[in-house]
Amino acid sequence: MDMSLVLNSLRDPAGVPFYPIVFQALYILTWALHIAFVLLTLGGMVVSIVGHMKKNIDDNWKLLESHMIQVSKISVSMLIVLGVAPLLFTQVIYDPNWYVTNTLSGLWVVGFIYILLAGYSLLYWFYYANKSNSSMAGFAGILSLAALIFAGVLMHSFAYESIQVDQWMNWYAPKGIVDNSGTNLHIDVVRLAFMVSLSAPVVGIFLLNYADYFSKREDYTAKYIGFVRSLGKKIALGGLLVSAVLFVLWTFTLGMAFHPLVIAIVLSVLLLLAMVAKGSNSYVITLVLVVAALLISTLREVIRMNIMSKYGYTIYDYPMNIDWPTVVMFLSTFVGVGFTAVGFLLTLAWRAGRTKGVYTADATVTKLADSTVSITILWVVIFLGWGIIAVFKNFL
Ligand code: HEM
Repeated sequence: MDMSLVLNSLRDPAGVPFYPIVFQALYILTWALHIAFVLLTLGGMVVSIVGHMKKNIDDNWKLLESHMIQVSKISVSMLIVLGVAPLLFTQVIYDPNWYVTNTLSGLWVVGFIYILLAGYSLLYWFYYANKSNSSMAGFAGILSLAALIFAGVLMHSFAYESIQVDQWMNWYAPKGIVDNSGTNLHIDVVRLAFMVSLSAPVVGIFLLNYADYFSKREDYTAKYIGFVRSLGKKIALGGLLVSAVLFVLWTFTLGMAFHPLVIAIVLSVLLLLAMVAKGSNSYVITLVLVVAALLISTLREVIRMNIMSKYGYTIYDYPMNIDWPTVVMFLSTFVGVGFTAVGFLLTLAWRAGRTKGVYTADATVTKLADSTVSITILWVVIFLGWGIIAVFKNFL
């Protein structure tokens, strides 16, 4: 079978609406953001569950547990929102791959939604049961974590299957008999273990940020801040070591152990280890972590490109049909609405969190709030107006 012909025939005949490299860069960026919140959720859940078990013997755990449940709860919503973006980008430039996966594992793709729903609902149960001191809280927390990890296993399987082009026919028609049950589920244990293991360094470094952030609030005792900082340091150091071992193992299985990108990732992990051990400023550590995440995201893309190029598929020759109105709308939404709203929300959260008691917005935050509301109203008017004009033009 001429795989190059198959893959290229599965492309969208309408082509892509802008330069493929832009979609690729956005995919790398948004997947790094997606996985950051995935890892914070999983790590935050583990800390919450441990905290739940220890809260009766140590008050520090009681406060930390309740905060980390909140962190995980918010992170799930962030990971979902930030998962949609790379999903759209991958469907634009690697549509043949994504649609084959959806054929092979269709049942799991639908199941994924319900498993995610169950995991998220159970997390709310954990939150409320913990608040009311119910004896079921720990049980709900463990079930929620299991469901969220299972959702991650499914996501990994979809990503992994989508690049195993040489296996597609064996999976679709084993021994020549078509299997259209949609129940295929194949995983790469080392890759998956590496991805999930990253939740330890991520939550460890998050705890260091938490300690630095709340150290400025007078109602947080130095003892509590010291407890969180030392816990964060231990988790980050242990997690970085485990992730580093799994990463090296994974790159050996790929035959890429000495690839420049792999070396850059190893160096960034060593730098992180040194900074955490030395007790450097946690916000600077987070910046290095962001660079490491972007490098890992780039490596995933390089692996995919290497495999696909063997089958004569490159995104760079995807037929292009530039659609300027869409591009302008997308970029202005991304920059205009996105940056202002995110800037406002982050500034508000940062300042409110640093205040004891009720927070009253200052002039800057009020200005940001007003701009966000005005820009959003303007955006809705343009978006709907444009849509209505297009509908009338096409159908009347
Ligand atoms: C608790 C829920 C979730 C978890 C734990 C999770 C975890 C993961 C993991 C571990 C990967 C990396 C797989 C790999 O490279 O081996 C991944 C990739 C991905 N996830 Fe999620 N995810 C979740 C929910 C979502 C949701 C709701 C969306 C979209 C709406 C999404 C979109 C994506 C996309 C697009 C990729 C990349 C796929 C590819 O490169 O082919 N994820 N996710």
